[in-house]
Amino acid sequence: MEEVGEITVSVMTEEDIPDAVQIERMSCSTPWSEALFFGELKNPRSVSRAARLGRLLVGYLCANLVADEGHIHNLAVHPEFRRLGVASALIEDAISILRDGGARFIYLEVRDSNEAARQLYGRFGFEVIGMRKDYYQSPVEHAAIMLLKPGP
Ligand SMILES: CC(C)(COP(=O)(O)OP(=O)(O)OC[C@H]1O[C@@H](n2cnc3c(N)ncnc32)[C@H](O)[C@@H]1OP(=O)(O)O)[C@@H](O)C(=O)NCCC(=O)NCCS
Repeated sequence: MEEVGEITVSVMTEEDIPDAVQIERMSCSTPWSEALFFGELKNPRSVSRAARLGRLLVGYLCANLVADEGHIHNLAVHPEFRRLGVASALIEDAISILRDGGARFIYLEVRDSNEAARQLYGRFGFEVIGMRKDYYQSPVEHAAIMLLKPGP
C-alpha cells in the first residue's frame, strides 16, 4: 500500500463498486456500469486500484496486463478531490505494479480534447503515438493513443 498524504492506494474490491459508479457518472459521458466493474475485478489480468481518503473512495484506476503490455483503460477522481495528486498516486502505483508484472509497454487511449488527462499522463512520460478515429461515442471523438516506453 502507498501513502500520499492522507490518500492511500490499494486494491479495488467489490465493496468499492457502488461509489466508483457514482464517480463514473460525475466524470464520464459513457460511464462504466456496476456489471462492467464486477467483470473487471473478476478478470485475473486486471490491475484495479482504489484511492481512498480515510475510508472514502476518491478515485480508481483499472488496467490490465497481457504478456509485456499494460493497458490503462479507466481512471477517474471524484470532482471534489481533484488537483490533489490522487490520479498521480494511482498512475504511479499502477506503473509500478504493471512493470513488476512484466509490462515493457503501457498504453492508454484518451479523448483528443481531454487536456487534463493528456497533461497528467505526459508528466509520467506517456507520449501520443497515434490516433483512433471516432473511437468514442457521446460525443463522437477521436482517441489519442498514448504509450509509456520501457525505462532506460
Ligand atoms: C483527469 C483526472 C483523472 C485528473 O485527476 P486529479 O487527481 O485531479 O489529477 P492530479 O491532481 O494527480 O493532477 C496532476 C497533474 O495533472 C495535470 N492536470 C490534472 N487536472 C488538470 C486539469 N483540469 N487541467 C490541466 N491540467 C491538469 C496537472 O499537470 C496536474 O498537476 P498540478 O495540479 O500540479 O498542476 C480527473 O480530472 C478526472 O477524473 N477527470 C474525469 C475523468 C477522466 O478524464 N479520466 C481520464 C480518462 S483517460
